[in-house]
Amino acid sequence: MRLVLVGPPGAGKGTQARWVARYYDVPPISTGDIFRANVVNQTELGLEARKYMDAGDLVPDEVTIAMVADRLGYPDAAGGFLLDGFPRTRPQAEALDVILAELGTTLDCALELQINDYEVIRRLAGRRMCRRAHVWHVDFEPPTVDGVCDECGGDLFQRDDDHPATIRHRLDVHAEQTAPLIEHYRALGVLVQIRATGKVDEVTRRAIGALDTCGPRR
Ligand code: AP5
Repeated sequence: MRLVLVGPPGAGKGTQARWVARYYDVPPISTGDIFRANVVNQTELGLEARKYMDAGDLVPDEVTIAMVADRLGYPDAAGGFLLDGFPRTRPQAEALDVILAELGTTLDCALELQINDYEVIRRLAGRRMCRRAHVWHVDFEPPTVDGVCDECGGDLFQRDDDHPATIRHRLDVHAEQTAPLIEHYRALGVLVQIRATGKVDEVTRRAIGALDTCGPRR
């Protein structure tokens, strides 16, 4: 399966990517996580990306597209992948179509997670994560021990871009630049849409039910 997950900030893309990628046995590839790892390691890419991420803006297309093209060339992505957070602009979507054509393949499915702004703000305000990108929520998905990741034992922290003014700006950026991609994927005949509210496992069941109607398992 070659999949992309589309949805506003806080829709649960990262949370669902973990379970859906496991179900289809493909690597989850999150552009946000790759950028954050580069920020932590203070690479040139990280220093460049941070300027945009902290403000809730998108990292420039040429930087992001080159990074994803490189990642999709890794052997683990040869049999399929789940892209979380890419594409987010029309040039990125068009570049992905070209990258896949050059690899002799196409996208099987674009899954849109639908959620309203009120729920996004509740989710992001309470989100906590560890350096290894495991995601928790103080009310909805609390770790067993406050402030400690159940998966790796690392400290949990709040993302710099999860503050109310930045969340609002990220929602505006999504509406302006990313939401129009829904029509791109509808036109390609690969779009499936689900409601992203309810418990995490309910959303996962909904996602897999929808994804099983498209792609190679159809
Ligand atoms: P990125 O990390 O991709 O952020 P995002 O798209 O804004 O999405 P989030 O990670 O905020 O949310 P999510 O949908 O993954 O939700 P999650 O599962 O964590 O990007 C960050 C930045 O990097 C961008 O702003 C940009 O600067 C840059 N960037 C990345 N990709 C780029 C690109 N392609 N081009 C240019 N720039 C790019 O869930 C949120 C919370 O809700 C968690 O606490 C979770 O526990 C909780 N939750 C999840 N599901 C449920 C549920 N069903 N019920 C209750 N709580 C739930």
